[in-house]
Amino acid sequence: MPYTIAIDGPAGAGKSTIAKLLSKSLGFYYVDTGALYRGLAYGIAEKGIPFTAEKSIEEALPALQVDLAYEGEKQKVFCNKEDCTDYIRTPELGQGASMISQYGCVREKLLDLQRNVAKEHSCVMDGRDIGTVVLPKANKKFYLTASPEIRAERRWKELLEKGEKISLEQVLMEVKERDHRDSTRAIAPLKKAEDAIEIDSSTLSISEVVDKMLSYCVGSE
Ligand code: C5P
Repeated sequence: MPYTIAIDGPAGAGKSTIAKLLSKSLGFYYVDTGALYRGLAYGIAEKGIPFTAEKSIEEALPALQVDLAYEGEKQKVFCNKEDCTDYIRTPELGQGASMISQYGCVREKLLDLQRNVAKEHSCVMDGRDIGTVVLPKANKKFYLTASPEIRAERRWKELLEKGEKISLEQVLMEVKERDHRDSTRAIAPLKKAEDAIEIDSSTLSISEVVDKMLSYCVGSE
C-alpha cells in the first residue's frame, strides 16, 4: 500500500518547498496540486475565457485536459499536451487558480487525477483540501501555517528573484485576498483536517519544519 502524506495550508506557508524536501528524504513522489489548478487556469486564459465566467468554464472543461508527468523529481504540468510548467507561477495565474477552484466542476475534474497518483505511489501531496477531501485517509496529515506578513514576504522575494516587479504591499493584499477566498468557498474550503498536525513555520527554518515532519512520519507506522 502506498504511504501518503497530506500537507495543507494557506498560500506562501512554505508547503511546496517543504513537501519537496520531505518527499526527497523519504524517496516519495511530490504532488503539487496547486500546479494542477494553475495549469487549468492557464488553459482557460489561453481560450480567452474570464476566470469569473463559471458557465463558460464548465462548458470548456471537457476540451481541457490537464496531466502530470515526472522528469526525475521534477513535476511537470501539461494542459492539452502543452508543457505549461514554466508559465504557471505568475500572480495572475495564482489568482486565476484561486478563482476557478471555487467551482464544483473544476474541483471534480481534478479529483481523480490527484487520487490516482496516490493510489499508485507513496507521495507527499500539498494543497488546500488534501487531508479533508482528496486523501481523507492519508497516513499523515500536516497543516502548515505562518503569519500573512511572513508568507507575503516569502512570496515577494520569490517573485523578485524571478524578475517580477511587484511591491510587498501588493503581494500581501493578494495573499490575504486568496486566503479569504480559499477558506470561505462553499466546496472543499481550506481548513485544517481534524486529525492534522498543525505546524506554524513563522519562526522555524525550512529544515526545522522538515525535521519536525519527518519525526512524525519515520518509525510511526
Ligand atoms: O498552491 P498554489 O498557490 O499553487 O495554488 C493556487 C490556487 O489553487 C490556490 O490559491 C487554491 O485556490 C487552489 N488550490 C485548491 N486546492 C488545492 C490546491 C490549490 O483549491 N488542493
